[in-house]
Amino acid sequence: MGKYYITTPLYYVNGIPHIGHSYTCVIADTLARYRRMKGDDVFFLTGTDEHGEKIAAEARKRGMEPQALADEMVLRFIGLWKSLNITYSDFIRTTQQRHVLVVQAFFERLKNAGDIYQGKYSGLYCVPCESFWTQTQLKDGLCPDCGRDLRELEEEGYFFRMSKYQQALLRHYEENPGFIMPVSRRNEVVNFVKEGLKDLCITRKNLAWGIPVPGTPGLSIYVWFDALINYISAPGYLDDESRFQYLWPADVHFVGKDILKFHAVIWPSLLLAAGLPLPGKVCAHGWWLFDSKKMSKSLGNVIDPGFIIQKYSADALRYFLLREMPVGLDGTFSIPAFEKRFNGDLANDLGNLLNRTVSMIEQYFKGIIPESGENSESASKLAQQSQEAAAKVCELMERTEFSLALESVWGFINTANKFIEDVRPWKLKNENPEALKTAMYVLAESLRMTAVLVFPFMPSKAAEMWVQIGMDKKIEDARTADLKWGMLKPGTMVRKGNPLFPRIEKDK
Ligand code: ME8
Repeated sequence: MGKYYITTPLYYVNGIPHIGHSYTCVIADTLARYRRMKGDDVFFLTGTDEHGEKIAAEARKRGMEPQALADEMVLRFIGLWKSLNITYSDFIRTTQQRHVLVVQAFFERLKNAGDIYQGKYSGLYCVPCESFWTQTQLKDGLCPDCGRDLRELEEEGYFFRMSKYQQALLRHYEENPGFIMPVSRRNEVVNFVKEGLKDLCITRKNLAWGIPVPGTPGLSIYVWFDALINYISAPGYLDDESRFQYLWPADVHFVGKDILKFHAVIWPSLLLAAGLPLPGKVCAHGWWLFDSKKMSKSLGNVIDPGFIIQKYSADALRYFLLREMPVGLDGTFSIPAFEKRFNGDLANDLGNLLNRTVSMIEQYFKGIIPESGENSESASKLAQQSQEAAAKVCELMERTEFSLALESVWGFINTANKFIEDVRPWKLKNENPEALKTAMYVLAESLRMTAVLVFPFMPSKAAEMWVQIGMDKKIEDARTADLKWGMLKPGTMVRKGNPLFPRIEKDK
């Protein structure tokens, strides 16, 4: 137990948020909720990246000021996070004064320490990626990351002495094997750094939409230098030192694989230069694809999460994102795959277990959960499996294996459904009333366990389950310590509600 600091990237405000952005926030939120359940003091940071050429160009295209575009878009992000139940602690915008001042002070510090020097940049620039490239790095003359055209740049500016940190970085990767996750991505980064690090140009000339370089008119700070610093400006660097000391370093930075190098190479070099501790880990997830291409605002092939939420519920979307794609791999978003999970895992397996159990307790015991008699073999098996699933989920959450964690919970849910088929409560009613009491108790207890287990993944539906099985404290107050079999009090009154996930019929 202690503080736990989680971040998402700051999303660019050149367009409205899509499924890809939702994914990073959903995995971060799921981990945040789980760590709170463990009793940690969680600080969960997200926000928006509002400077740079890409935003300026989009604003120009729309005939707006960049700040007005940012002000409009930020509401879309905040609105989506609200409807997805994202429980961030702070939302930082890079245009806020609290951030701008820290970026400028950070720049000055590194300059005074000799790690930032003046020079001339001559090379290429990719606007959609906001990245500098050299001729030798290109793929077929195009951006090696996104495959788009590059712009030639030749300008006076400032450089960060990143080359100086090559050995320190390699040592850090070696001494902290969990620093970059998953392992396959770690090797990529290690090889990249082994090939040698170049100093990084960290300013742009004549780009008005950026943080001004202190004391140098006409120069603004490179958008990535600016944006990465949010991870320390939000928790109070150079402003509230005691808060900063408590919160920093971050425990995990969640990022998409496209921006891993910025987080696992540039960011730690900047921190080393400033004499600050490095984050616990950088966890890079894969991409949601559509027609085999990365879903992206710039490509315009995005799925609107608002539509999915309205039609199927926020928790169904959270479930699909977490279950369908393991964190390190890519996945394809498609409506048929989504509806298959919805009708199968959610409506049939989970929804029916709740619905059948609550209905039977109402029918056989006037809604009052009976005291368990002696456990039959199948009841003991269910109890045991609940404990195994809980232990497994806790272990998998530590490794951000959300998909496998859900698979374990569903293994347990399916055993509970099978238990109903095996013991056939409708027969026990006359044949063995004691066994019927046991069956109803163990099923209700299985639902209590399931609600706690799925809460970090599907908070609203877990809360609905919680109410239906008659729990009176709030599910937000449940802790991992509640994952002990037998804590459900007999005599609790169930309250039947609406189906959790009404089946989607094909012809609609
Ligand atoms: O890169 N699949 O912002 P961004 C999965 N501002 N995740 C996706 C995705 C997809 N198709 N598309 C986007 C930036 N993401 C910078 C970050 S951090 C200091 C600055 C997710 O709006 C993924 O996590 O282009 C990606 O890293 C993030 O959205 C930000 O995308």
